[in-house]
Amino acid sequence: MAASLENTFVREIETNKTDILKIHQLEVGDVGCVVWDAALVLSKYLETPDFDKGGLLKGKKILELGSGTGCVGIVAAYLGADVTITDLPDFVPLIKMNIEENKALIKGTTEAAPLTWGQDILSNNFHYILLADCIYYEESIEHLVDAILSHCQEDTEVLCCYEERTTGNKPQLQRTFFKLIDANFNTEEIPLEQHDTHFRSEDIHIFKFTKRKIS
Ligand SMILES: C[S@@+](CC[C@H](N)C(=O)[O-])C[C@H]1O[C@@H](n2cnc3c(N)ncnc32)[C@H](O)[C@@H]1O
Repeated sequence: MAASLENTFVREIETNKTDILKIHQLEVGDVGCVVWDAALVLSKYLETPDFDKGGLLKGKKILELGSGTGCVGIVAAYLGADVTITDLPDFVPLIKMNIEENKALIKGTTEAAPLTWGQDILSNNFHYILLADCIYYEESIEHLVDAILSHCQEDTEVLCCYEERTTGNKPQLQRTFFKLIDANFNTEEIPLEQHDTHFRSEDIHIFKFTKRKIS
């Protein structure tokens, strides 16, 4: 993607406290240059009483993988978390632009950083790892699982939201991803009733993974 930040259109995300976060999306670019539905579902789940429990994310260290526009990480930082928002190097300028756009509303801290799955390891001291709609690329599915694993410690919780797709290679890709995840993590699906009442859909799933303890 030769990211031109000149032509953007804004996706507004209204928070439960009626603040408006503004996420710039690119008119032309690779798939990550717009906010995907799974990002909206995960962002709004972070605000639900089921998850948030009156400020759970305040001061928590969070890593977002494959963030695209930065949407999910920015919502987490709005809720008070200290978030490292990552994607391929080409997306870092767009993430930075969106952090800058929302800085007055962000209560935690944010950093935009390049992170290519399977290549870069930042640290493993995160409370949460977030990812939305990253089960998408056949060539990097193993690298994605490596990236999750290498940034986790024992008590890190991974929230993985994805849109279930039934065409092309996507069903096989989803099976491969979960086979690799099951080998390393305990998994639990967050029931649909616990998702945000408006931002939910039968075909968009949120899973929680925690690293299997080696006995
Ligand atoms: C379908 S988009 C989802 C973007 C965003 N999470 C959302 O839901 O709006 C998948 C994202 O994964 C990123 N990605 C793809 N391959 C990657 C890799 N090897 N390393 C890091 N990020 C990658 C893409 O750049 C893109 O932003």
